Amino acid sequence: MNVDETKARAGPREFSPKDDLPEEYRKAATRMLEFHANSEIMGAFLERPFIRKAPSIERKMAFSAKVQDEIGHGQMLYRAAESLGIKTREEMLDDLANGDGKFLNCFHYPMESYVETPMIAFFVDGAAMRRQATLKKSSWEPYAHAMDKICFEEGMHVKHGESILRELMNGSRKEQRMVQEAFEEWWPRILQFFGPTDDQSTHHDFAAEVGLKTCTNDELRNAFLNTYIPKAKKYGLEMPDEPRIRDNGDGTYEVVEDDLDWDEFFTVSQNEYDGSIEQISGRRQAQEAVQWVRDMMDDQTTTNSGPQSQAAD
Ligand SMILES: [Fe+2]
Ligand SMILES: [Fe+2]
Repeated sequence: MNVDETKARAGPREFSPKDDLPEEYRKAATRMLEFHANSEIMGAFLERPFIRKAPSIERKMAFSAKVQDEIGHGQMLYRAAESLGIKTREEMLDDLANGDGKFLNCFHYPMESYVETPMIAFFVDGAAMRRQATLKKSSWEPYAHAMDKICFEEGMHVKHGESILRELMNGSRKEQRMVQEAFEEWWPRILQFFGPTDDQSTHHDFAAEVGLKTCTNDELRNAFLNTYIPKAKKYGLEMPDEPRIRDNGDGTYEVVEDDLDWDEFFTVSQNEYDGSIEQISGRRQAQEAVQWVRDMMDDQTTTNSGPQSQAAD
């Protein structure tokens, strides 16, 4: 199939590994999937310390389950990416470790305090849900299929984050103030989660034309604002003065995009922000620390296949 035929045929779950797809499609789909898979892994890396730091056994168990879910999402998405024939899962993991792999802006920033955790588990996972629900209609069938399971689990993550936010906002004045400060720090990054406005986005047109993406960055951002501004207010959070939010008076909102720091966003996107280097090298060290497990499993596979191959001889 050439590019024009691919565009003409594009529809929800239309293409699978048995289709002869143009390289341009396979590269675009790989770029999206690799970015998404890397983001799951880097998000898990950011939340992992809270398995230990969370204040109760119930919260520790919930963080443990969430981190395992996110790693599982990453693995499923690497497999869905691998089936496009451009890169192997190992190559993508190596690129992530050596700083060539790209991932979501929010996961380049450190998260030190427990009061920050709802910023990821409620707002960022809520934003992720918005985007991922639309990807159930992606034209790359393995991607859409992975979204069925992932969206189900993300729904649980949002409930977990909302439960922590509710608890903290019903806590002491100090806790409420600390959550408000965390919200003010994270809110602009969360709004940038969806990427730049559509006319600045380099990859949207082709991905939309071949059905990989079904919504624009602005449509997703606005849908997120319409749901999450009322939720933030419900729990007692005050909207920061900047970035300015336009209230359209009909339950819909828009952000004044010029109030967001897009220079910082693009620095982050290129893995060139100070925090990026710290997060990437921290994650690489974590990967190296468990290399012995991978080596042992490889040895085990070789040992198990040894006698069988001898028997076959
Ligand atoms: Fe996830
Ligand atoms: Fe999640």
